[in-house]
Amino acid sequence: LQDPRIARISSAIRVIPDFPKPGIMFQDITTMLLDTKAFKDTIDLFVERYRDKNISVVAGVEARGFIFGPPIALAIGAKFVPMRKPNKLPGEVISEEYSLEYGTDKIEMHVGAVEAGERALVIDDLIATGGTLCAAVKLLERVGVNVVECACVIELLGLKGRERLGDRPLFVLVNAT
Ligand code: PRP
Repeated sequence: LQDPRIARISSAIRVIPDFPKPGIMFQDITTMLLDTKAFKDTIDLFVERYRDKNISVVAGVEARGFIFGPPIALAIGAKFVPMRKPNKLPGEVISEEYSLEYGTDKIEMHVGAVEAGERALVIDDLIATGGTLCAAVKLLERVGVNVVECACVIELLGLKGRERLGDRPLFVLVNAT
């Protein structure tokens, strides 16, 4: 049985065809942020799931993981760690490259932001191919962090993102195609 809050969250997400490229149905969470109940329910659903899991790190993926990560981190008493696009973080970084349809991309994290043995939640707005989320997880695992779960508001089905994560658990609120 689905939580009754999910339907409102789902209908508050706007779908914009052909953005940023023809053929892409863009899942726009900014309309959900305007619906104060849907936004609060989204944060509450994650907080309810992660509050008693001994998580000390919420790692948010740029850019929209920066919207959902901090309120969750504050509510569960964890620190927030931004996982950023290349050359944005000013301190010493470690980075993880991942493959795109054409070429590669990279995400970075500050050295010293997390310690080996910490328990982390990785959050983003959406998983498509899973490349971004998988790179974020690998970055944390490389420094000895235990990634308890990945969480997204939306999972785009049909792109095998979940498979790319392997055995690592993924929790999502809304499915889309
Ligand atoms: C989107 C989305 C995820 C990523 C998912 O970000 O917010 O971070 O793509 O795709 P994947 O599962 O195929 O890796 P985008 O690349 O649009 O960057 P932005 O958040 O900085 O706009």
